[in-house]
Amino acid sequence: MVGIDQILEKLSAVIDPDLKKDIVSMGMIKDLELNDGNLKFTLELTTPACPFNVEIEDDVRKAIAEIKELKNFDMKVTAKVMEGRSLDADSGMFTVKNIIGVASGKGGVGKSTVSLNLALALSQTGAKVGLLDADIYGPSIPLMLGMKSAYMEVENNKLQPAKSHGLQVVSFGFFAEQSHQAAIYRGPIISGILKQFLVDTNWSDLDYLIVDLPPGTGDIPLTLAQTIPITGILVVTTPQDVASNVAVKAIGMFEKLNVPIIGVVENMSHFVCPNCNDKHYIFGDGGAKRISEQFKIPFLGEIPLNSGIMSGSDLGKPIMITNPDSPSAQAFRSTAKNVAAQCSILAAKLQDDMASENSGKDSEDTGKDLQK
Ligand SMILES: Nc1ncnc2c1ncn2[C@@H]1O[C@H](COP(=O)(O)OP(=O)(O)O)[C@@H](O)[C@H]1O
Ligand SMILES: [Mg+2]
Repeated sequence: MVGIDQILEKLSAVIDPDLKKDIVSMGMIKDLELNDGNLKFTLELTTPACPFNVEIEDDVRKAIAEIKELKNFDMKVTAKVMEGRSLDADSGMFTVKNIIGVASGKGGVGKSTVSLNLALALSQTGAKVGLLDADIYGPSIPLMLGMKSAYMEVENNKLQPAKSHGLQVVSFGFFAEQSHQAAIYRGPIISGILKQFLVDTNWSDLDYLIVDLPPGTGDIPLTLAQTIPITGILVVTTPQDVASNVAVKAIGMFEKLNVPIIGVVENMSHFVCPNCNDKHYIFGDGGAKRISEQFKIPFLGEIPLNSGIMSGSDLGKPIMITNPDSPSAQAFRSTAKNVAAQCSILAAKLQDDMASENSGKDSEDTGKDLQK
């Protein structure tokens, strides 16, 4: 009769292509029950947005199909997002698993557009997602969501995020009476506001918190990098931006601060001809890919130019909602999967580092014991 050992051995041959580890040692097999040749378990993926979830599920089914003695097999597939660096005991942000800062070298590259549509794409996979508009000088998320008049309530000294399309949203634009007026605050106040938005908000069990940063390397990106151990930074570039090297400066700053770079996204990268579906690289080809090679950071995707993105932004209608089949929405979806996969990779690395740190401590202790 087939035994649990034999089943686990077969399943151990299934490797998560992102994490490069087998699914059994990653703890992805849960609630395994084997009764008289009837097998049942849950496959728990590391994120609902995993680009390989279909592949992993198929590999599991194939592995199980090789065990001929089984009478029946029933598998449930779920996802539990891995915890990145943000779940830090001191940060107070226990309910947020991953914080992703979206940065760029200069303004107007589409940081807010990318932040919002990636947040929506992740949320559409079933993940719980928050969006923090940290561009205190020029908040644009409320307008892009058609929420100009929305406001946040305060309960038990905590901000309650506004809700839109399933996202939990916080923006300085909800506070500024006339959000079209640029805020004129000095650095320390700005940093204080950002810290409050991060820590004093009642985020409810978020898998991902996307933080839309102002451009460049000023007080706000610095505060984010230094206040909370975030999962990492996503750098948005455009083809022109690559040529002028400003993205490189932003990457340099975060690397100096030891903040992981999740990867680079090229926005307004090309134009998809609506008639022939051909891609036209109007401003030149491969800029972000060159940055990714130069800095050895992942290339996460390229978002085409689409006039609907601009008109939709002004009307509060994001493309992921209004035109989910458009090439731009498809590009946001595939980029979001790559972002989620990189977050899982960073979280797995963090767990490994912590495990080896602990085992280092253990062997130190053993060493001391031996010396006694
Ligand atoms: N892929 C795109 N195609 C067309 N227009 C875009 C695209 N990405 C952004 N835009 C437009 O470019 C402008 C700047 O984008 P925004 O997201 O506000 O940039 P940032 O936050 O970096 O300053 C906005 O009008 C936006 O609608
Ligand atoms: Mg912006």
